[in-house]
Order: sequence, then structure tokens, then C-alpha cells
Amino acid sequence: MGEKDLETLEREFQEKVDNEIKIEPKDWMPDAYRQTLIRQISQHAHSEIVGQLPEGNWVTRAPNLRRKAVLLAKIQDEAGHGLYLYSAVETLGADREDTIDDLHSGKAKYSSIFNYPSLTWADMGMIGWLVDGAAIMNQVPLCRCSYGPYARAMVRVCKEESFHQRQGFEIVAELAKGTPEQREMAQESLNRWWWPSLMMFGPNDADSKHTEQSMNWKIKRHTNDELRQMFVDVTVPQAEQIGLKVPDKDLKFNEETGHYDFGEINWDEFWQVVKGHGMCNKERISARKNAWENGKWVRDAAVAYAEKQADKQDVKEAV
Ligand code: 3HC
Repeated sequence: MGEKDLETLEREFQEKVDNEIKIEPKDWMPDAYRQTLIRQISQHAHSEIVGQLPEGNWVTRAPNLRRKAVLLAKIQDEAGHGLYLYSAVETLGADREDTIDDLHSGKAKYSSIFNYPSLTWADMGMIGWLVDGAAIMNQVPLCRCSYGPYARAMVRVCKEESFHQRQGFEIVAELAKGTPEQREMAQESLNRWWWPSLMMFGPNDADSKHTEQSMNWKIKRHTNDELRQMFVDVTVPQAEQIGLKVPDKDLKFNEETGHYDFGEINWDEFWQVVKGHGMCNKERISARKNAWENGKWVRDAAVAYAEKQADKQDVKEAV
């Protein structure tokens, strides 16, 4: 059979996507599709790993053993999510160390939300309730992503995110029905985390350079604004249920549309944070670089052990 020309390959690829046939690592794919996935999945993985840092700040300060155990379990889950996603990136031919170098050099992004400081215990609740809640809103549709390894990684990730969101909401609900000081701590934390959580979904659709193509390739199943709206519609009633006030003077339920209208996001702040000028960007990257350098001996030991095991296997097979 002769070589198919590029036009045929691209048409057959898009037909598979349109017919909900998963694209697998060994399938032909447009380079732009491959590069888009390497960009998005590697940045997703970076977000999981960097996302552990704000919470790590509170492991030694958790109010009791149960909260400490739950927080440790959640942080450990996030490391595993990063592992799945770095593995998914490697199926596209990307080199894991290169992607991590890109994070350390500032070439690659990670979610803006993790550049905000975790100042009180209530922030642990907000990160679980709002940040993981937003992550779930964004990640559930990714379980239907056209690229097989990413979609499958998301199925396991989403199961664990649900636990993350529930434990966060439980922390906030406890504080909200606690002493006046605890209620105030929860409200003050909501005031700080609400708008940065809306920014997690990315720029408005009109300003999103990737959304249209990512929708066409069924990498994205909803646009940034659609997911943001879904998040607001679900989360505002939760806040009301525990007596907290969402810090948005323009927030109002629209009887006609059945959705909440909400105020304008501070996009200057968003892009400042994305460009590396947020409150914690430098601290986060420095922590990641230190961990990477200090953990080199672990990686070297694991490789040495794997090579020794492989040698043993070779000898066994040779006799
Ligand atoms: N933080 C940092 N950069 C962001 C961003 C954010 N919140 N939102 C958008 N951007 C960047 C994009 O990466 C892109 O820059 P690039 O071309 O250099 O990559 C640019 O802004 C334009 O944005 P687009 O909307 O056009 O880009 P995308 O189509 O990639 O959409 C996205 C952005 C919605 C974040 C999409 O990449 C996505 O769905 N990624 C997978 C999910 C993910 O990464 N979530 C982040 C949080 S993970 C998390 O919270 C886990 C939890 O367990 C802790």
C-alpha cells in the first residue's frame, strides 16, 4: 500500500476524532495535536506537583491528627496525579526531564492558583473546596479527551479529586459553624481564594488562543467560560448553605438564564501571575528546583537498581 499523503492522513485523523475513536500513542496524529497535548498535559502535571506546596505548609500545623492524616493523603494523591500525567506526556514522545527543565526555567506554565499564599488553616479548606472543585469541573470532561492516555489518567484522578473537594468543604463547613473567630477565618479565606479560583479556568473564550482548536480536536469538551459558569453555578449555593458570602457585589441569580451572573475578573492580575509576578511564583519555583536537586540521589538509586535487576534478568535468560 503506497504512502498516504498528508491530506488523507489529516482527514482520517479528524474522522476518528469526530467519531469518538480514541487516538492512541502509536496512531498517526498531526504534529500540532501532539504539541498541544504535550503543552497541556505537561503543564497539568506541573500544576499537580507545584499544587502540593501551599498545602505542605500546613501539614505540621493541622489542628488534629485526623486533619493531618487527611491532608497528607491528599498531598500524596497530587504527587500521583503528577506521575500519571508526566507518564502520559512521555507517550507523546516528550522527555520528562525536558518538561521539568521547562518548568524550572519558566518556559512552561502551571496553574496560576498555586502562586497565592496559604495563610490560615481555612485556606486548606478553600484549596480543597474551591481549587479542587474547579479542577474537578475541568477534569471530568477531560475523561472524554480524544487522546486515550490522557482520558484514562483523568478517570483515576477525578475519583481522588472528589475526596479532595469533600474534605476541603468539610473543613470550611466546620469553621463556618464554629466560633465567631472561626467563621471570620473562613470568610476571610473565601475572600482571598474566590476570584483566583475563577481564573483557574483560563482567559475568557474571546481571549483564549487555544480553545477553538482544542474543541475541534475534542481535547476540550467545553470552553473556558462554560466551565467557569458551571463552577459558579454549583459553588455559590454551597457557600450559601454554610452561611458564607461570595465576595462579588455583582453576583446575582438570573431567573431567565438559570445561571448566576457574576462580576468581571481582574485579568491584569491573572496575566501578572501567569507571567511570574504573583505573590509566590519565585518561592514555588525555588522550592521545586531544590526538591529536584536534592532528590537526584533517589532517582539515581532507582535507575541503578532497575539496571541491576535488568542485568540479573539478562543473565537468567542467557543460561
Ligand atoms: N494558569 C496559568 N496559565 C494559564 C491558566 C492558568 N490558570 N489558564 C490559561 N493559562 C495559559 C495557557 O496555558 C495558555 O498559555 P500557553 O500557550 O503558554 O500554554 C494561555 O494561558 C492561553 O490560555 P488558553 O485558555 O488558550 O489555554 P488552554 O486551551 O490550554 O486552556 C486550561 C487552559 C483550561 C488550563 C487548559 O490548559 C486545561 O484544561 N489544562 C488541564 C487542566 C489543568 O491544567 N488544570 C490546572 C489545575 S490542576 C489542579 O488544580 C489539580 C488539583 O488536584 C490541585
